[in-house]
Amino acid sequence: MPSFGDFQSEIYLGGLQGVTPELPVSMAELERRAQGAMAPEAWDYVAGGAGLEDTVHANRDAFRRWRIVPRHLRGVAERELGVDVLGTRIPAPVLLAPIGVQGIVHPDAEVAVARAASSLGVPIVLSTLSSKTMEEVAEACGDGPRWYQLYWPNEPDVTKSFLSRAEAAAYGAVVVTLDTNLLAWRPRDLQRAFLPFLRAEGIANYTSDPAFRAGLDRPPEEEVMGAVLRWVQVYPHPQATWDGLALIRDHTRLPVLLKGVLHPDDARKAMEAGVDGLIVSNHGGRQVDGAIATLDALPGVVDAVGSAVPVLLDSGIRTGADAVKALALGARAVLLGRPYIWGLGVAGEDGVRHVLRCFLADLDLTMALSGLRSPAGIDRSLLTPIPG
Ligand code: FNR
Repeated sequence: MPSFGDFQSEIYLGGLQGVTPELPVSMAELERRAQGAMAPEAWDYVAGGAGLEDTVHANRDAFRRWRIVPRHLRGVAERELGVDVLGTRIPAPVLLAPIGVQGIVHPDAEVAVARAASSLGVPIVLSTLSSKTMEEVAEACGDGPRWYQLYWPNEPDVTKSFLSRAEAAAYGAVVVTLDTNLLAWRPRDLQRAFLPFLRAEGIANYTSDPAFRAGLDRPPEEEVMGAVLRWVQVYPHPQATWDGLALIRDHTRLPVLLKGVLHPDDARKAMEAGVDGLIVSNHGGRQVDGAIATLDALPGVVDAVGSAVPVLLDSGIRTGADAVKALALGARAVLLGRPYIWGLGVAGEDGVRHVLRCFLADLDLTMALSGLRSPAGIDRSLLTPIPG
């Protein structure tokens, strides 16, 4: 049976014909190439975090503080990485994190990402703040699995409309992001006075939405600033409460996940609110600088919910070993973030596919070499904390 790890043989065999990979295999090199390929303000927007970017670094440090203790002679020739998450069958415990406004990185934006991910069966989670509409992206996915990430607008009619469009476009779950009801203090973007949405980038789901358009004097095609100003009114939602979640629950048949949960008590609240899954995330260190690293938060959240609902994790995932560590600490799957945007910046759809193939091969081989045939076989006994 073919496995994701076969990409390794493909590369080495290519070497016999004098072919070496055109795109970087190393994440560090990929990141460097992406910086060179992107406009400076787009690079800073993607790379940057809140404040001193301490949490951006803390996310990576947390992975370094755990070590895998590989096991041997366990017959790992046949491996099955596939998992079910809330009715979505995925070929490996990996999804693409919602990342907004990809049009500043590449003109094909989320359509390129959708095509690349779908060609491998990997689900995308499409941001509300996408450069392409959710319908365009759904079409690019074809039969590929997709979830929709909701930035919960402060106008119920727009919220309901987004939810019904996502359902109509066959998204398989709704991910409600809790940590970005306001934008954080982000020095890199502030220094450039660069907020793409004010330049009408990343608001396609709003300008195409009947409930949003109903509040405009003139259509966005005629007067875009009116739409931008309405977006400024509708987007922030600091008044959101746990009770308010009922609106979302009542207006979709799709499973609902909450993204951004870091405290065990919030995980318990989410259970009381009847949500179907959680994503432990600090938004890649872009919201609360000084926030707990996600890998540090994961065990507490997993212990709080038990096996009631799947818990996923993002923020800092860069290698197969990172995914294995998150799975060992109780995550059902991980979401890959910035790295696929680097691929998009360097080579569009091909770049995203390349990043995913590298990541999946690395994950497959790391699992095999650790003595694991499937994600179900991973538990905390695989890890040891490094002393001190
Ligand atoms: C994000 N993230 C994000 N999350 C979300 O729910 N909706 C969104 O629109 C965005 N937009 C966005 C833009 C950019 C440029 C970045 C880098 C991130 C957060 C994202 O889903 C994920 O939590 C982080 O990317 C994880 O951190 P790493 O692994 O990318 O460092």
